[in-house]
Amino acid sequence: MIILSVESTCDETAVAIVKDGREVLADIIFSQADLHAVYGGVVPEIASRGHVEVIYRLADRAIEEAGIEKKDIDAVACSYAPGLIGAVLVGVNFAKSVAAALGVPLIPVHHIRGHIAANYLAYPELCPPFLCLAISGGNSLIVDVKDYTDMEIMGATRDDAAGECFDKTARVLGLGYPGGKPVDELSRTGDDTKYVFPVSKAGDNPYDMSFSGLKTAVINLIHNAEQAGKELDKPSLCASFSKAVSDSLVPKAVKAAKERGRSILVAAGGVAANSRIRADLEKAARENGLKLYVPPLKLCGDNGAMVGSQGYYEYLAGNTAGSDLNAYATMQL
Ligand code: KG4
Repeated sequence: MIILSVESTCDETAVAIVKDGREVLADIIFSQADLHAVYGGVVPEIASRGHVEVIYRLADRAIEEAGIEKKDIDAVACSYAPGLIGAVLVGVNFAKSVAAALGVPLIPVHHIRGHIAANYLAYPELCPPFLCLAISGGNSLIVDVKDYTDMEIMGATRDDAAGECFDKTARVLGLGYPGGKPVDELSRTGDDTKYVFPVSKAGDNPYDMSFSGLKTAVINLIHNAEQAGKELDKPSLCASFSKAVSDSLVPKAVKAAKERGRSILVAAGGVAANSRIRADLEKAARENGLKLYVPPLKLCGDNGAMVGSQGYYEYLAGNTAGSDLNAYATMQL
């Protein structure tokens, strides 16, 4: 089954062609990061307009690159939640139009389910059940993936997402947007014990997370140093900060896997590209006898192929939509 899939929930416009949920025939991504960098974060209106301007061309390129014709497309999938509402609407309406024009089914895909499915593209042997740590710019979740379309959220952030925390730290340090990558790069030469940041406990649920206290601690430290005219050791600050984020995530994910009796631990989302988190996950998985799957870097961030992969399994489960499909800014997994 060949699916044309569309992703437009934030500042990446992406269209892919995916076969049987596992084989990527084309995956075209246009990042708007440069457009937003000047503002230090994503400007929703600019994002929506940016998607409108390129989505048609990306679809044509994907079809050409996949070496198929429009008549070969069996279904159209799109991320329909969660995300910036105007941005998501562009992808949903484009997908609806293509599905109607070709007379093929339309498949709505939850964006985070897509991030999880990115792993199916990289690891043919990977099948549910497994425990997933899904960490992106807007979400931080610990998910028990019971089956391809049956998932339970065991824990979530109570406030900011891990990615937001990286982006804010980078902004205050003057490292630009998006900030995860430069913070990660700088942290590699730093001493992670030099600064001590809080690893918060978030209420009664042992799997919930909180990043707002960490964000405030980093910002206060930087501002206090500036006011006192003190030079900060930026690499060590980034290393200590990354350690605190990782310590807030990795032990919880491992504990959740053990509680549910899952032998497989999976990471997903843009923040899963972080080298400290990847290293800590590897160590923790090894120590706890868990098999670990972490997406290759190119499948961590937003892409269309992950939507095509999850779309295939949603289709098999009968989850298709009509032309009244709407976009949603928030939605349970
Ligand atoms: O999954 P994604 O592309 O978009 C969402 O669905 O939200 O995630 C984007 C987030 C941004 O916050 C970005 O700074 C972060 O992922 N990110 C990283 C790294 N690369 C991207 N965070 C930490 N370390 C990285 N290497």
